[in-house]
Amino acid sequence: MSATDNLRRIQERIGAELFRKDRQTRYLVKRSEEEQALEAVFDRRTLFTLYSMINRGLLDYLNGVVRSGKEARVYWGRKDERDVAVKIFYTVTTSFKNRTIYITGDRRFQGVPTSGRTMVYEWAKKEFKNLTLARDAGVPVPEPLHVEKNVIMMEFIGDYGIPAPTLAELGSGTQKDYNAVLVSMKKLYRHAGLVHGDLSEFNIFKYKGKIMLFDFASAVERAHPMADELLVRDIKNINRFFSKVGVSTLKAEQILKRVKST
Ligand SMILES: Nc1ncnc2c1ncn2[C@@H]1O[C@H](COP(=O)(O)OP(=O)(O)O)[C@@H](O)[C@H]1O
Ligand SMILES: [Mg+2]
Repeated sequence: MSATDNLRRIQERIGAELFRKDRQTRYLVKRSEEEQALEAVFDRRTLFTLYSMINRGLLDYLNGVVRSGKEARVYWGRKDERDVAVKIFYTVTTSFKNRTIYITGDRRFQGVPTSGRTMVYEWAKKEFKNLTLARDAGVPVPEPLHVEKNVIMMEFIGDYGIPAPTLAELGSGTQKDYNAVLVSMKKLYRHAGLVHGDLSEFNIFKYKGKIMLFDFASAVERAHPMADELLVRDIKNINRFFSKVGVSTLKAEQILKRVKST
């Protein structure tokens, strides 16, 4: 048997195990397609990371893809009867080049390579850390559960494997949502010492009547040389969206002052 055949057999076996059948429930995704997609997208090391998480009881199984992005795929998984979101960063990607700006200047990244697998692992670790800091600061974010190599596991926001709508998907937002976003930005800055860096209607869920920030991959520390620039951009994005949906917004400078004031 050739090395490729061998690898494929291992991947098939692991893929089947990751998508262990759950006969109790009916799901939206055709598993065989999912399994094939998993093999096509992830290399052997990623499959082994997931497999190892399952063997160590950190994860029960994966149910299907929630969304595929440029840099990561989000899966719906299960752990102890609970839905979890499993965000898996591609290890072979070119779009990470765009991230160098976030990493250069972040002292947490000193001595870390700016390309390759190690960098992707650092990137996952950083998003996980940012989520933890945000949550500890009282910002509504998905609860971070586990990080390993290029895999992040967190609380699933939504029901029955369907993610809660983002503000972008809803195409609406209220004054209360706007105020809550501003309060979250301030808490994030003051208490977590972070700027989201990619904040917009695309990275805010509305779930059970409340807003929740997510996608902390681009967040930077307050001390980052680009922190102010990113904060202003976040504010402008938020203002643009809320004024579009008819909410009266504050001036960007006023918000900036408010976020940065003690
Ligand atoms: N914790 C979560 N619970 C449920 N769905 C999620 C969760 N995190 C992400 N998703 C889904 O995956 C999509 C992409 O996630 P995101 O973290 O924004 O990655 P990207 O870097 O691709 O933008 C989200 O729009 C949402 O639909
Ligand atoms: Mg996103």
